Amino acid sequence: MKTIAPLAVVVLAAGKGTRMKSSMPKVLHPVAGAPMLHHALKAAQSLKAEKTVVITGFGAEEVESNVSKYFPQAVFARQTEQKGTGHAVQQAHKALKDFTGTILIFSGDSTLPTRPDVLPELLRTHTEEGNALTVLTADVPNPTGYGRVFKKGGKLVNVEHKDCSEAERKITTVNTSFYAVESKILWPLLNKIKPENAQNEYYLTDIIALAGAAKHKVGMACLPMEREEIGMNSRAEIAQMEALWQTRKRHEMMAAGVTLQDPSTVYFSHDTVIAADVSIGPNVVFGPGVTIESNVNILPFCHIEGAHVHSGARIGPFARLRPGTVVKEEAHIGNFVELKNTTLGKKSNANHLSYIGDATVGDDTNLGAGTITANYNHFTKEKFKTKIGNHVSTGALTSLVAPVTVGNDVYIGAGTTLRKDVEANTLVVTLATTKTKSNYRKRRK
Ligand code: UD1
Ligand code: MG
Repeated sequence: MKTIAPLAVVVLAAGKGTRMKSSMPKVLHPVAGAPMLHHALKAAQSLKAEKTVVITGFGAEEVESNVSKYFPQAVFARQTEQKGTGHAVQQAHKALKDFTGTILIFSGDSTLPTRPDVLPELLRTHTEEGNALTVLTADVPNPTGYGRVFKKGGKLVNVEHKDCSEAERKITTVNTSFYAVESKILWPLLNKIKPENAQNEYYLTDIIALAGAAKHKVGMACLPMEREEIGMNSRAEIAQMEALWQTRKRHEMMAAGVTLQDPSTVYFSHDTVIAADVSIGPNVVFGPGVTIESNVNILPFCHIEGAHVHSGARIGPFARLRPGTVVKEEAHIGNFVELKNTTLGKKSNANHLSYIGDATVGDDTNLGAGTITANYNHFTKEKFKTKIGNHVSTGALTSLVAPVTVGNDVYIGAGTTLRKDVEANTLVVTLATTKTKSNYRKRRK
């Protein structure tokens, strides 16, 4: 394989996404737990491109502040008026005027770049064929809406759906809106685009015919793909893309040694990491930021987000792990238990009906049914920490009013509301008097 020239990436993200009917820019709508734009940027990051330019326009400030938080290396070029995809790429010229090499152009409304075969295939075709421009295409049974790519007078051209003749509409090879193009030909070609089409826009797709006319070598990389994964223009298409992405991820997970009892009911995020020999029951949802180590058993109906579960732990059924949760080796989380910003130590348990928030729990500790941390002051909005040591047992319905620290080897009796720290080796029992009146019902009659 020929060596790949220096790379730069341009991601198109300025469009309003009219078909979304949303005040939020289309590219920020999520797929697999991340704004759709992140998928393209993640791929750009993996390519170690010299420069990644994001074209922003509609909701530019919102898009830019979101992107710079997660992809600090990205630079922005504003397209103040959305005059079309060709006009959008032109805005990157200033940022890339000193760059010489291959420019990858990605549409910001697709998760395609994170599909493992897509970028390698586009780059391989571009380099091995020695093309000046390569467009990624797909053959789809229902090409409606997409630009058609075909040969006209021996030269490759793209005609947008709205501009196609009846005969051209029957062509099933469509433009995915992913390109590899040599910098030296791109800028002059963009200047030649004219807005002479059904939408009066500067279409990037025109560079295909313009490159051929200028006698540059133009090629096509064609990959099998589903219509839905090419681009997302409406909420229905986002849902279809999500479904496809999830199906692919489930297969990847199973191939990597994860057991999914009912795969179609398990949902992953873009960054979910799960080790081999993890078993996952039906109806489990992974939000962003989850790592699950080996031999963990996740029982049905769990929602897990921003959590690290160490090997041998058991979670659920019906458990909720919220961001900042760490469950150490062989710990057990049972039904109707919620953990937030909490570390649960090795071999510790919270098996029934608990809320543990902003807490650290040591090893070999048992939190009895209904143990609750009272960590939040609703009026001041402050949150307070609870620290529980090793080998502690909290009885059923223990309330821990934070901030509070419980030392090692403490035993707390059922029904205790703990408002002050407890030192190691202590027994805490709440002896509220219980009155019993015999024959009570009879007396009332
Ligand atoms: C585009 C292609 C079409 C292809 C399809 C694949 C053009 C003219 N058409 O159509 O051939 O089959 O993608 O998904 O390129 N954008 C801007 N500025 C603009 C307009 C759009 O930055 O002025 C951005 C959008 O934010 C979006 C991307 O460019 O991320 C594509 O725009 P979109 O309107 O979705 O183009 P399609 O109609 O889908
Ligand atoms: Mg689109």
